[in-house]
Amino acid sequence: MSNPDATSAPTDAEPLVLLERHDGDIAVLRLNNGKVNALSVEVLTQLDRLASELTERSPRAVVVTGNAKVFAAGADITQFAERGGEEPFALSPPSRVGEIGSSFLRALNAVAALPCPTIAAVAGVALGGGCELALACDFRVAGTSTRFGQPEILLGIIPGGGGTQRLARLVGPAKAKDLVFSGRMVDADEALAIGLADKVVEADQVLDAALEWAATFAAGPRHALALAKSAIDEGLEGSLEEGLRFEQDRFVQSFTTPDAATGVRSFLAEGPGKAVFD
Ligand code: COA
Repeated sequence: MSNPDATSAPTDAEPLVLLERHDGDIAVLRLNNGKVNALSVEVLTQLDRLASELTERSPRAVVVTGNAKVFAAGADITQFAERGGEEPFALSPPSRVGEIGSSFLRALNAVAALPCPTIAAVAGVALGGGCELALACDFRVAGTSTRFGQPEILLGIIPGGGGTQRLARLVGPAKAKDLVFSGRMVDADEALAIGLADKVVEADQVLDAALEWAATFAAGPRHALALAKSAIDEGLEGSLEEGLRFEQDRFVQSFTTPDAATGVRSFLAEGPGKAVFD
């Protein structure tokens, strides 16, 4: 794939999340917090800001990635305790834990709300909040050595970034409980089998495979894709009846976008599959 040309300006020091742009209106959000990409409040704040900025810039697809060995090792566990692990030991107070939880909620909701297809390119491990970030994307491309997991229970806590909610909606409640109750990691094959991963490729091909997939969306009807995403995601939040009404609304709305004129005209004039969308 082409080299990214970075469009994000460093604020103070090196940014903890990089925004890179690839050909074809595909944006890449790359976690950049040391070896394990721990999701500190600071990382999540930058992720929230960049995802919100991206929403304004209307990319046609977004890929979220980490480094070659670690997508993200989850919440920054040092922020769970005062004075790190030093004695006398003291957990962070509820107000601080609430701040950490809110940072997850804001950042991952901002990623989930991006009005275009989003793909997590997951090389290495995606644990805890890292798995939850991948779950906030529409799709997950994993490498053969990728491991997903929600190990919070092993710390005596529970997921706080969507691990009990998005995971259960994606893989079903029993499988989500299996992962959340045990804290065990699942390998790429199991992730694919349970629908946690959508594609598995060679470990060093993860980003390229995600970009290739993103390019297929980038060539598509951006308005219709955004409406389809919103119909599925927001429709799933309510009852079937509400979802069907929501879909009707989005269906009618889709005819007001330039994509519908392009697509329907092209079909009637030239047959299926020939439309070229702006
Ligand atoms: N938060 C803060 N620091 C973390 C971290 C996290 N989530 N995950 C790893 N680290 C730190 C380690 O403490 C270690 O720090 P050190 O170099 O100062 O000793 C460093 O990152 C490297 O970790 P290490 O375990 O030595 O590397 P590894 O390659 O053997 O394993 C992981 C990497 C990510 C698989 C392993 O560290 C791990 O399982 N991390 C915890 C994941 C987790 O429980 N996440 C849920 C959080 S709620």
